[in-house]
Amino acid sequence: MLKQLQKNIIAEIEKASELDELDKIYKRYLGRNGELTLFFRSLKDLPEEERKIKGRLANEIKEKIKNALEEKSKKLQDSKKEDLTSSTEGKLKKEWFDITAPGEKFKLGHLHPLTLIKREIIDIFQHMGFSPVEGPEIEDEWHNFDALNIQKDHPARDALSLGKTLYLKEEIPVKQKTKGKLLLRTHTSSVQIRYMEKNNPPFKIIAVGKIFRAEATDASHEINFYQVEGLMVDENVSVSNFKAIIQEFFKRFFKKPVKIRLRPSYFPFTEPSFEVDISCIVCQGKGCSVCKNTGWVEIMGAGMVHPYVFNSVKLNPKFWNGFAFGIGMDRLTMMKYKINDIRLFYSGDLRFLNQF
Ligand code: DAH
Repeated sequence: MLKQLQKNIIAEIEKASELDELDKIYKRYLGRNGELTLFFRSLKDLPEEERKIKGRLANEIKEKIKNALEEKSKKLQDSKKEDLTSSTEGKLKKEWFDITAPGEKFKLGHLHPLTLIKREIIDIFQHMGFSPVEGPEIEDEWHNFDALNIQKDHPARDALSLGKTLYLKEEIPVKQKTKGKLLLRTHTSSVQIRYMEKNNPPFKIIAVGKIFRAEATDASHEINFYQVEGLMVDENVSVSNFKAIIQEFFKRFFKKPVKIRLRPSYFPFTEPSFEVDISCIVCQGKGCSVCKNTGWVEIMGAGMVHPYVFNSVKLNPKFWNGFAFGIGMDRLTMMKYKINDIRLFYSGDLRFLNQF
């Protein structure tokens, strides 16, 4: 019977997986009221011979159980330690990182090529004493046409057929008093009017901004693009002032000497008016597809401010005179970077934009 008990206890010890299970086993058999303890107590009632034999056996069993408990407890403690270290190791392995490794580069956005060019142009003109100014993209007929001597029947004002003006369908609330229908400005010349209405000469201003025309788009036409408008008004401004300034501008912009030539032209707001060509940057004037083999590229309109314009803004044309010009900025940028399609600027194509 004692042997069977020993077997059972040893089996229980083997099975135990937690230290407190071992505690319970100890209490159950060897505690104050443990089965084996009670058995020891009952020995005193046995006859001496039997007591000796059973007593020895019980002691042996007690010893074995104690040893088994001790051994198992050590085993459990060791495996617990191992668990702990292995989980710390796992954690460390997972969390390890190389602090000496080079960091990941953030992808930063950058400015649009037209914005870069706009800033560059303003910078060059500022160095020549011109102040950058702005005007609204939604204009009224007065500032965009009337004040500039563009008559009511001028084809440019037409929304259909020959005209390219985009009129707004409905009256929208705008801060300033409007004169005539609202439209998207078709040129930056309207900024000249806005500026001269509020300022007295002498002045030199530059306005770079978006303009809108109902064009059929192709490689050289877009429905919106940029113009650079310049205006210099003083008592004694001449065409040679204009030539000198614009020649210097192109030299700084293209970073090489550029030839210019003036051809007579017509604009309602200037007299005389001219078209300005520059020697082709792409082929250095030798002839290529960009300049259609002429060696020259038409880049801007210009002229001496028409007396009618001064009168519209209540400046006396007897005292003041000046020159004005309008450059197609997209074209200028296309020349500088040898871009052959204006639509690329407005496509949002990152393969194109990332090159700048
Ligand atoms: N506004 C003209 C256009 O859109 C360009 C222009 C020509 C502007 C002559 C001027 C100028 O200031 O004097 O085509």
